[in-house]
Formats: sequence, C-alpha cells, structure tokens
Amino acid sequence: MQAALVQALPASAPEPTASAVLDQLGRPLRDLRLSVIDQCNFRCTYCMPKSRFGRDYPFLTPAQRLSDDELLRIARAFVGLGVEKVRLTGGEPLLRKGIESLVERIAAMRTREGKPVEVAMTTNGSLLARKARALRDAGLGRVTVSLDSLDDGIFRAMNDVEVPVGRVLEGIEAARAAGLAPVKVNCVVERGTNDGQVLPLVEHFRGSGVTLRFIEYMDVEGPSGWSQGRVVPSEELRGMIERAHALLPLARRAGETASNFMLADGSLKLGFISSVSQPFCGDCTRARVSVDGRLHLCLFATRSVDLRQHLGAACPQQDLAQAIRQAWQARGDRYSELRNGLRAQRLASGKHQYPTVRMSLVGG
Ligand SMILES: C[S@@+](CC[C@H](N)C(=O)[O-])C[C@H]1O[C@@H](n2cnc3c(N)ncnc32)[C@H](O)[C@@H]1O
Ligand code: SF4
Repeated sequence: MQAALVQALPASAPEPTASAVLDQLGRPLRDLRLSVIDQCNFRCTYCMPKSRFGRDYPFLTPAQRLSDDELLRIARAFVGLGVEKVRLTGGEPLLRKGIESLVERIAAMRTREGKPVEVAMTTNGSLLARKARALRDAGLGRVTVSLDSLDDGIFRAMNDVEVPVGRVLEGIEAARAAGLAPVKVNCVVERGTNDGQVLPLVEHFRGSGVTLRFIEYMDVEGPSGWSQGRVVPSEELRGMIERAHALLPLARRAGETASNFMLADGSLKLGFISSVSQPFCGDCTRARVSVDGRLHLCLFATRSVDLRQHLGAACPQQDLAQAIRQAWQARGDRYSELRNGLRAQRLASGKHQYPTVRMSLVGG
C-alpha cells in the first residue's frame, strides 16, 4: 500500500489593511500582472500552438498595444490602490522593446507605505542570458522562468520553434549570477509529453537555490488538445517525487498560487499549482491587465473592463483609479472553483470547452 502523502499547509488568510480595496468576498487588491506584449517567439503546444497562432494570426497592432506611458499610468493607478507587486508578463515580455526602461520606471514607484514597488517577471528565458544583468540593474527583483523539460528533444517539441534547452538553462544561470534570486522555474506538466521530466528537473535543481514549481495543464483558450486525461494532478506529481525524496510542507502566503514543500534535506523548494484539481479562489488578490488595456479580474472570466477609455491625454488619473477601484469592489467571482461544473454543463449541451481568455494575451 502506498504511504499517505504529506499534506500541504493551508494559506494564511489575506490580511487587509484598513485602507485596502476589497472585493465582494473581502479579498484585497494586492498584485498586478501586467502583460506587455501579446506576441511570443515560442509556440508552446499548451499555449500558442502553431495550428492556431500561424503567420496570419491577428496579433495586436502597435497602435492597439498600450504604450509605455499608458502601462505606467495603469501601474501607478494600481499602486495608489494598494498594489505592492507588479509582475510583467506576456506573450514573451523580453520581446518588448525598451523593457528595461519600463522595469526601471515601475521600480521607481513607491507603495502607499513608501516602500519600493516589487517588480517581477515571467519569461520563457530564451533571451534572459543577455538581458538579466540590465534587468537587475533596472530594478527587476525576481524572475520566474518557464522550463518544461531538461531533455532537449522534448523541450524543442514543446516550444515547437527549435529553441534548445541549453539556452534557457543559460538564462536561468545568468539570472542567478545577476542576483535575481531566488529564481523560480515553472513547469507545465502534460501527461504523455513531459511527465517523465519531473524527477530529472528535481534532481537538476537540487542545491541550486532555484524554487521549482509544477503547474497543472489548464483548459485555457489557445490549445485545442486539452483534455482532463492530459492533466497530471498535483497529488500524483507529489507522489512521484515522494517515492524518491521525503517532503516537508512549507507555509503558503495569502494570495500565493502554489502549495509549497521542501525536500527534507533542504536541497530544493517545490511548489504545486493545482488550478485544475484543487482550484481555490478564496484568497486571490491578483488583477490582470492585458496589453490591449483590458482589466481581467480572473484568468477564467469571460468579461473584462476596458481601461483604455480612461487613458486619453485629457483623462484625469483619478478617473482611471476610480474605474479600477469600482471593478475590483464589484468582483465576486470564483470562476476557478466553479468552472469544472460549468465546463461539464457546456460539454453536455454540445458546446466547446468552457471559454476563457487567451493565456498569451493575459499572461498566466
Ligand atoms: C502565458 S506565459 C507568459 C510568460 C512567458 N512567455 C512564459 O512562458 O513564462 C505565463 C505562464 O503561463 C503558463 N501557461 C501557459 N499556458 C498554460 C496552460 N495551458 N496551462 C498551464 N499553464 C500555462 C506558462 O507555462 C507560463 O509559466
Ligand atoms: S507559455 Fe509563454 S513562451 Fe510559451 S507560447 Fe505561451 S507565452 Fe510563449
């Protein structure tokens, strides 16, 4: 009989400060994920498969994309409402021209308590080796790098553009050397594709200081090949790792997406993001803005709020902040928790899977 798995520790409840902007479920607005580009140099099969994101795909035109000044106005409005951390994402954020200057200008902002705003980034790492130092100098605090396999053949098949895994490993190394620590590495696990890479990734990053996180393959818009059978539940992944290494549970901060563990010998921190098998919305403090200027209150929401109308030169900054405040205060969604039922209903009525926003537009 298999031994019982070590259980994850529950998250502490989000602690709203007296002036925090709260939604209908009492969740404070604390984090912003700001997508800076909708294009990418990868065609990950689970995100932007070539069959859909070909040469003729209608990506946003430069005029449709927010300018640096507009992105900064949005970031400033969120910071004024209590946001302390801004994560830049995409598409691939390192493809945006002048990304270093954007980082620098956001890092110069101060939270309501007068602390520097924390700037983080999620990247596929392919351009990180040459940019890590400049990003760090500009004020980037942390970086999360996506890496789905150490096996070069599997890695190339998953990014589908022949980028070798060595280039991303160099990027991770450069980030560590530049002081962007602790680097987090995200791996989306797809059954039958890279589930055999879980243990090699664990072994590779032991003792490196990197935090390794496994993400369940989500049913977001983009990939056509999603099915429940291709999802490897976090419990199964943990079981796989626990057969090789004892694990200790670690505390999860309120609003954090992952359940955290550590190898008992202290050589590696691990996280599991279980958006499919154990969706949990109770302490979500994240707002997302896509580079077309739309505010998304949940990754699985089908409606969004247009912030562009508040970005004209004549529009006062306080109107933009008020629009964001109102949207957050009206937020009562728990889509992640509800969508398994909603998806079943849609499939039963002959419709396609539950619709969501495009991951590469909103940025994960
Ligand atoms: C959309 S990407 C944008 C940032 C950057 N291009 C990267 O890959 O890190 C952000 C995160 O979403 C994850 N992601 C994309 N599609 C996914 C899916 N279908 N299920 C789970 N995670 C997904 C990626 O692995 C990545 O960690
Ligand atoms: S996951 Fe990131 S790297 Fe992969 S296609 Fe999507 S946006 Fe690009």
